Amino acid sequence: MNIILMGPPGAGKGTQAARLVEKYGLVQISTGDLFRKALREQTPLGVTAQGFMQKGLLVPDEVTIQMVKEYISENTFENGFILDGFPRSIQQADELVNMAEELNFTIDAVINLDIPTDKLIARLSGRRTCKQCGSTFHIVYNPPKTEGICDNCGGELYQREDESEEAVQVRLNTYDEQTKPLIDYYTVKGQLINVDGDQSMDDVFKDIEKCLEEK
Ligand code: AP5
Repeated sequence: MNIILMGPPGAGKGTQAARLVEKYGLVQISTGDLFRKALREQTPLGVTAQGFMQKGLLVPDEVTIQMVKEYISENTFENGFILDGFPRSIQQADELVNMAEELNFTIDAVINLDIPTDKLIARLSGRRTCKQCGSTFHIVYNPPKTEGICDNCGGELYQREDESEEAVQVRLNTYDEQTKPLIDYYTVKGQLINVDGDQSMDDVFKDIEKCLEEK
């Protein structure tokens, strides 16, 4: 089972992807995480992505598409994968169709986490991410047991660089202009499943499970 997990910045894609990995044994392919890893390792890809990410803009389509294609062709996915944060533009979605044909896979569900914009700012400004294992927490909605320390691996928690108020606003505008049109794109194809993202993390997951089990 291969899934696309869509939604605006802070909608809970990473949170729900982690649960899907645990329950269904899927592999999470987060383009944001892949870019951040490349940045930490200072690879040419990371250096290219850095300026766009810091400003809250999309990394150019050609670069992103190439990275995803390489990742899918170089890895095996016994139970399938979750695309978390890809596609994010019409061009990326079109290229995903070509990629699926070329690499011989199908997309079985497109899940869109639907949540009002005013809730996103609170979610993003309160998020804390583990430097070591990448687990995410929220200072109010999902606090770690010890402040600043990851429950899962004991690593240090930090706030991402693209979480400044200015960068968050640009990310939300970028989403509206370039990514939101994908809702219509996948609706027309009859593939879109809307899930109410404005519920507790457990309830969002229950709805996703229900949708997947009905498929
Ligand atoms: P990326 O890392 O993908 O960021 P994003 O899409 O903006 O999404 P986030 O990771 O910020 O949010 P999320 O939806 O995963 O929410 P989370 O679960 O953490 O991308 C970063 C950048 O990389 C982009 O800006 C761009 O530059 C570049 N990039 C990436 N992909 C690209 C692409 N395809 N093309 C071009 N460029 C690309 O939750 C947020 C917080 O809320 C957490 O603290 C969590 O604990 C909390 N929370 C989650 N669910 C709930 C809930 N139900 N109730 C209460 N709190 C909740």
